[in-house]
Amino acid sequence: MLFDLNRFLQGLSYAIDCVESELLGSSTHHGKRVAYLSLRLAKAAGLTEEEQFDIAAFGILHDNGLAQETLTKADLDRSRLCQAEDLPAHCTIGENNIAHFPFRSHSRDIVKYHHEWWDGSGFFGLKGDEIPLMAQIVGLADSVDVRFRFENPDPSNRQRIRDHIIAQSGLAFSPELVALFEQVSQTTAFWLDLHNSHIQQSLDRWMPSHTVEMSWEEILKVSRVFSQIIDSKSRFTQRHSGGLEEKAGRMANHYDMPHDEMMQLRIAAALHDVGKLAIPNAILDKPSKLTETERMKVQEHTYFTRLCLEPIPGFETITEWAANHHEKLSGNGYPMALPPERLDFNARLLTVLDIYQALTEERPYRQGNTHEDAMVIIDKLKEGGQLDATIVDAVRTTLADAPAS
Ligand SMILES: [Fe+2]
Ligand SMILES: [Fe+2]
Ligand SMILES: [Fe+2]
Ligand SMILES: [Fe+2]
Repeated sequence: MLFDLNRFLQGLSYAIDCVESELLGSSTHHGKRVAYLSLRLAKAAGLTEEEQFDIAAFGILHDNGLAQETLTKADLDRSRLCQAEDLPAHCTIGENNIAHFPFRSHSRDIVKYHHEWWDGSGFFGLKGDEIPLMAQIVGLADSVDVRFRFENPDPSNRQRIRDHIIAQSGLAFSPELVALFEQVSQTTAFWLDLHNSHIQQSLDRWMPSHTVEMSWEEILKVSRVFSQIIDSKSRFTQRHSGGLEEKAGRMANHYDMPHDEMMQLRIAAALHDVGKLAIPNAILDKPSKLTETERMKVQEHTYFTRLCLEPIPGFETITEWAANHHEKLSGNGYPMALPPERLDFNARLLTVLDIYQALTEERPYRQGNTHEDAMVIIDKLKEGGQLDATIVDAVRTTLADAPAS
């Protein structure tokens, strides 16, 4: 199918920005703003269209490593995102996570080196032109967006940002890059483009479109880049999306599902919990019973999954399956309390499999259940009219010999 990688990236960027919002304690569009700033600098620097698409992708993805549990759990002063960014691990983890993303140019190590400074004072001590140009650009965009509020309408704020960048010429940033920033930041539109309420449109306007012919297999591979980011958010969910995807594949084989349908089901499984990136780890990993407010917060994750996947052309069905995995046949699921006629076969299947996957995984307060124990609990839900009985029975037999994953 013709696949719009821009829409795909931008949909998922919402979830990645949520991780930074958690650390920063306020709502941001940090990734999108870094992407926009990087793009403007890349164009001015004469980078090719392929490189321009990639730098926007790197901008969106540059801090994906922050989702990693060890980083979100580190003892941070939550009032300052830069402290989270002070951990070099987020660069290497982030680089590894995106190893299979289909970038158009052959640029590598951009995420790894986005905290290198021109004078050699960065995490890895690279200096001057040793730092890939794209990493220099993303680094400038990132550091400026962390320090300043672009939505501040006061024109004196613009001068403060310019002054800061000029002061760092030859220190954090190369003199050439500083000159490029001076050049692109001359217009009123540049500054207005960066406002929270406009940033999505601004990015749409400037980002080269990247619509490519991709098979469902290839789209699944790209989806796994994100399921890996989702799963790394908590040590209790290290294999959750991956395990669910694998079980969805086994059930699809059991039902002799047509190939395209199976691939879409696996993609929905890989991305079903992408909205969890919007839920703080303090709640997701809480070892004791959740309060009512916390429980309601966790329930928001499927709403955010819908928000991320809905704008992606071709993902209409995948969105329904992924975002409805906590809906119930009894009509009292969440987040929409859909009636059973709105839940098709694969939505019902994913619901049963998600419960099975969660029950057989270790949690902060318990060990993982065996297949038999998990089926006892699932049977109770079936008897309560929440789950599809025929699917539950098929899962019982098909996954009986499932290796733990
Ligand atoms: Fe960073
Ligand atoms: Fe950042
Ligand atoms: Fe979920
Ligand atoms: Fe899940």
